[in-house]
Amino acid sequence: MKRLEGKTAIVTGAADGIGFAISRAMAAEGAQVFMGDIDDDKGRAAAASLAAAGGKATYRHCDVAVEQDIADLVAAAAETGHLDILVNNAAIAIGGMPLHEMTDAQWHRLIAVNLTSVFRGIKYALPHMLRQNSGSVISMASAQGHIGLDGWTAYAGAKGAVMSMMRQLAVEFGPHNIRFNSISPGTINTPMNEKVVADLGPQVGRAWVKMHPLGRIGKPEEVAEAAVYLASDAAGFTTGTDLKVDGGLTAAPRYVPEFFVE
Ligand SMILES: NC(=O)c1ccc[n+]([C@@H]2O[C@H](COP(=O)([O-])OP(=O)(O)OC[C@H]3O[C@@H](n4cnc5c(N)ncnc54)[C@H](O)[C@@H]3O)[C@@H](O)[C@H]2O)c1
Repeated sequence: MKRLEGKTAIVTGAADGIGFAISRAMAAEGAQVFMGDIDDDKGRAAAASLAAAGGKATYRHCDVAVEQDIADLVAAAAETGHLDILVNNAAIAIGGMPLHEMTDAQWHRLIAVNLTSVFRGIKYALPHMLRQNSGSVISMASAQGHIGLDGWTAYAGAKGAVMSMMRQLAVEFGPHNIRFNSISPGTINTPMNEKVVADLGPQVGRAWVKMHPLGRIGKPEEVAEAAVYLASDAAGFTTGTDLKVDGGLTAAPRYVPEFFVE
């Protein structure tokens, strides 16, 4: 028996990176996956590749900074008759600068995409989950919500907020059998990080490897496996938690600025 057979799932930021890996893993486990993203060409190709592999996957344009797009994605998924899994995954990385150099526009953009989107996704999904008295919401946090790194205060602030929201919601909606958890990845090999390395330089990539006690950065599939678990009935008694998939990054105080010097 597949672990998510018969379940309807929404994944945002699903065209690439961790969101695509989660979509692929959930489709392989039998879920019908509604994939939202702003990169429509990549999103359509991603959904088609999952369908070609025998999965049930539908792509729909969804800019998570646009309320109506989220409402429409949720409505499309709910047309299956139920909504079992919501993965709030889409986010952007704006950082690598001291806070006083961040503009107001950068701050508001980051909060809109990384935090307001989570509020809206849950707001629109909850009525369906309440009606069926079940659901699993997974929001992507980050190791950066647990530890301090130079230059990423706004991103870390949004991720910390995501984690506390999941805890609050777990308490509030536990009696309705709706579970809320977050995942905190360490550094994962995705386009988001390729861009950070391109912007800030290759020494950042080398430092990332040294920062993780396991001696490497992670794979999107390793985060996807955590999401499948949290979405599945096997995690039926797990709510209000944050699951770290971080190669030990937050367990060891290895981050020191000297790593950037080598
Ligand atoms: N990669 C990492 O090391 C890492 C570490 C910790 C947490 N995370 C978190 O994991 C999640 C996925 O990260 P990733 O590395 O796969 O990112 P990514 O940038 O590689 O991919 C993100 C996807 O989201 C899409 N996207 C961007 N803006 C969007 C918007 N406004 N609406 C909808 N889709 C949008 C992109 O088109 C892309 O397909 C994010 O929440 C990120 O903060 C990533």
